[in-house]
Amino acid sequence: MSARKLPQQVIPLVIIFAAALAALIIARKILVPKTFGDLGHYRAAAVDEIAAQPIAFAGSKACLDCHEDIDQVKSQSKHRGLSCEVCHGDAAKHVEAPDEVKPIKPIGRGYCPLCHGYNPARPTGFPQINPDLHNPGRACMSCHNAHNPMLPHAPEECAACHRQIASQKTVSHHATLTCVTCHTVPDGHLTTPNIVLAEKPKTKELCGKCHAQGADSPAEIPRIDLATHGGRYVCWDCHYPHFPEAAR
Ligand code: HEC
Ligand code: HEC
Ligand code: HEC
Ligand code: HEC
Ligand code: HEC
Ligand code: HEC
Ligand code: HEC
Ligand code: HEC
Repeated sequence: MSARKLPQQVIPLVIIFAAALAALIIARKILVPKTFGDLGHYRAAAVDEIAAQPIAFAGSKACLDCHEDIDQVKSQSKHRGLSCEVCHGDAAKHVEAPDEVKPIKPIGRGYCPLCHGYNPARPTGFPQINPDLHNPGRACMSCHNAHNPMLPHAPEECAACHRQIASQKTVSHHATLTCVTCHTVPDGHLTTPNIVLAEKPKTKELCGKCHAQGADSPAEIPRIDLATHGGRYVCWDCHYPHFPEAAR
């Protein structure tokens, strides 16, 4: 096949293709930084550049030389998992010149709620408070020690740790029921909740105490036939006990 018989649109295509190829080669030369690919799929010079940056954080071990007393307190407390510089900010300069540079001390009421402000996305039981309602107007540290935030006394209300459930119940048909109507709670649960568990109801007879036909409970409580209503399922497969609604 001679060149003459090539379809005429091939020539412009070849030109475009060649131009694109040339542009790509030039772009690679201009745009791809030097030392890229020398050691792998990254810019080799970046390693030295990052290493040359000033060090801002000293790491918790660096604090031990001079503040071992505080580390002792913290390591026995619920805050043992937190690094010093989480709260005190970058402190490498302070380690070098302790008398000249002082790290920050987060004493305002805004700081601790970053972790402890009520947020339904946090795991159940994580200590949470509503900063607007929890002892407003006073510094957190007037009651809690930041290095050992153990509670001044055991919480009196389940809501201290189960805020979301408590708030839901408040606006539900079960608002007047206390938590211990349905849950047996050993004292230890209030101080070591992960070790001493509260009990959850196991059978529908609990609900029947108030809702069964003929149950000895106030007349305005709606009744169901405990033997048939809901079939073989337990009540809380269909009604959330902390916000029960007669599902439609
Ligand atoms: C070489 C010793 C030394 C090291 C290491 C050191 N500090 Fe200090 N730190 C001091 C001295 C000295 C003071 C001043 C004590 C005083 O004023 O009573 C101080 C004070 C502080 C204060 C109080 C500042 C203030 O305004 O009252 C904080 C917070 C602090 N250090 C945190 C840290 C943290 C966090 C680390 C680890 C990253 C650390 N320090 C490492 C010696 C050290
Ligand atoms: C949960 C946040 C938090 C963590 C973690 C934390 N601190 Fe503090 N620290 C504070 C607060 C808040 C203050 C101010 C307390 C006050 O003024 O009552 C403080 C005060 C200090 C002081 C001043 C002296 C004093 O006792 O008031 C030093 C020194 C200090 N912290 C060092 C450390 C060291 C070292 C660590 C790590 C072992 C650490 N902190 C971990 C929040 C924290
Ligand atoms: C970086 C996140 C973080 C910050 C900031 C923080 N905490 Fe905590 N706090 C925790 C963790 C994690 C626990 C342990 C939770 C657990 O045991 O389930 C805890 C536990 C607590 C407890 C419960 C102690 C107990 O005995 O049950 C209190 C009270 C507390 N913190 C107060 C504070 C105060 C006051 C501050 C501000 C100085 C603060 N926290 C800052 C993460 C944080
Ligand atoms: C100091 C915080 C705290 C207090 C106060 C508290 N709880 Fe809990 N509770 C927890 C934590 C944390 C868990 C999660 C334990 C786990 O799953 O390991 C939990 C779990 C539970 C469970 C589920 C147990 C299970 O088997 O899943 C029930 C029910 C419960 N709490 C009821 C209550 C009631 C009722 C009160 C008030 C009388 C109360 N709690 C007070 C922290 C607390
Ligand atoms: C007037 C003293 C006081 C002040 C101020 C105070 N608290 Fe408390 N806090 C308590 C007491 C007492 C409890 C025990 C639960 C209860 O009775 O409410 C508690 C409970 C908590 C809990 C719940 C612990 C758990 O296991 O559920 C957290 C978290 C907490 N406080 C953080 C804070 C933070 C953050 C601030 C500052 C914004 C603060 N507190 C200010 C006295 C105080
Ligand atoms: C009407 C009875 C009833 C009342 C009142 C009640 N609960 Fe429950 N609760 C239950 C039942 C039933 C379950 C089991 C639900 C399941 O397994 O799906 C449960 C489960 C829980 C759980 C496990 C987590 C979850 O959401 O399933 C916690 C925590 C809990 N209750 C805390 C509380 C607290 C705190 C209160 C008071 C504010 C309270 N309950 C009031 C019946 C009740
Ligand atoms: C101590 C008594 C008591 C117990 C135990 C009890 N309830 Fe109730 N229940 C009530 C009261 C009071 C009402 C509200 C009646 C009213 O609205 O006047 C109610 C209302 C309800 C409603 C009706 C909501 C509506 O939309 O009308 C449902 C559904 C319900 N409860 C389910 C349950 C389930 C499921 C259990 C077991 C986990 C349970 N209850 C345990 C007292 C109880
Ligand atoms: C399979 C799902 C299911 C189960 C399991 C179930 N329910 Fe219901 N329940 C419903 C539905 C749907 C309604 C609303 C329609 C109706 O009245 O039958 C309702 C209504 C109710 C009412 C309101 C009746 C009224 O007259 O307003 C109460 C109280 C109630 N249920 C309690 C219970 C109790 C207690 C149990 C456990 C013995 C239970 N339910 C188990 C689905 C269920």
